Amino acid sequence: MKSDYNKSAVVMGATSGIGYEVALLLAQRGWKVGIAGRREEILSQMKKEHPGIVAYEVVDVNSPQATEGLQRLIAQLGQMDLYFHSSGIGFQNLSLDAEKELSTVETNCLGMSRLVGEAFRYFASHPEREADLAVISSIARTKGLGAAPAYSASKRFTSHYLECLCQQKRIRHLDHIHLIDIRPGFVRTPLIEGSRFPMQLDAKEVAAEIVRAIAQHKGVVTINWLYRLLVWFWQLIPRWLWVRMRIC
Ligand SMILES: NC(=O)c1ccc[n+]([C@@H]2O[C@H](COP(=O)([O-])OP(=O)(O)OC[C@H]3O[C@@H](n4cnc5c(N)ncnc54)[C@H](OP(=O)(O)O)[C@@H]3O)[C@@H](O)[C@H]2O)c1
Repeated sequence: MKSDYNKSAVVMGATSGIGYEVALLLAQRGWKVGIAGRREEILSQMKKEHPGIVAYEVVDVNSPQATEGLQRLIAQLGQMDLYFHSSGIGFQNLSLDAEKELSTVETNCLGMSRLVGEAFRYFASHPEREADLAVISSIARTKGLGAAPAYSASKRFTSHYLECLCQQKRIRHLDHIHLIDIRPGFVRTPLIEGSRFPMQLDAKEVAAEIVRAIAQHKGVVTINWLYRLLVWFWQLIPRWLWVRMRIC
């Protein structure tokens, strides 16, 4: 396998949770890492403390200028071999609060396609190098979750968008681009802080599995094996039965 040295990665949504752990792990493994998110104090601290993290940009994926932030990050790194998109928000929303629903769609669908699209265009214009484009969706994509409508639907959108890009890369003969749809189960991060969700995974272990999946150019990875089993059964449930079930 090619060494990780001299390879550069951008991690979008690196200030906490899964993105934070993936950024640190890549840096430890010799990647040159550029990080982004909205919280500048955390980004600058990470750059100070971790030698492999060589650049940062304050990026709000919901801003039309976000793509310029990504371009500046790539310019600082010199090149990009991996784009990892971890930015995302989500809420339990049984009251169907409009602000929560719309902000989730904005960040997880609009913001995601804005940045993933920009990364894809960058990779398409650099056919001389192998490239990995990895995005976190979720097992919440499997079925429509009544307790978190926008979140669940936004993760389906993410998965579907990646499937579209997979087909587009075939149509356009962009064989050097590897797309990865990462579908974790519950992970102990600020996103689900205070919740009583069962089977919560450790973010460091999830990050290790993600980095392994990227190295193997896996197209889809559900994390971990227990969730793989769960999702397998879950997707067999017919719609008429699913909508009658109370899943909170
Ligand atoms: N935790 C879980 O159980 C779980 C399970 C499956 C999938 N996921 C998915 O994994 C991804 C990472 O989640 P996490 O659990 O690591 O949550 P987290 O700890 O809350 O991290 C979310 C990251 O997204 C960034 N972000 C949020 N809004 C942003 C915006 N508008 N622009 C740029 N960055 C933004 C945050 O950075 P700033 O606040 O600094 O902008 C932060 O770095 C999400 O897509 C989430 O849906 C999580």
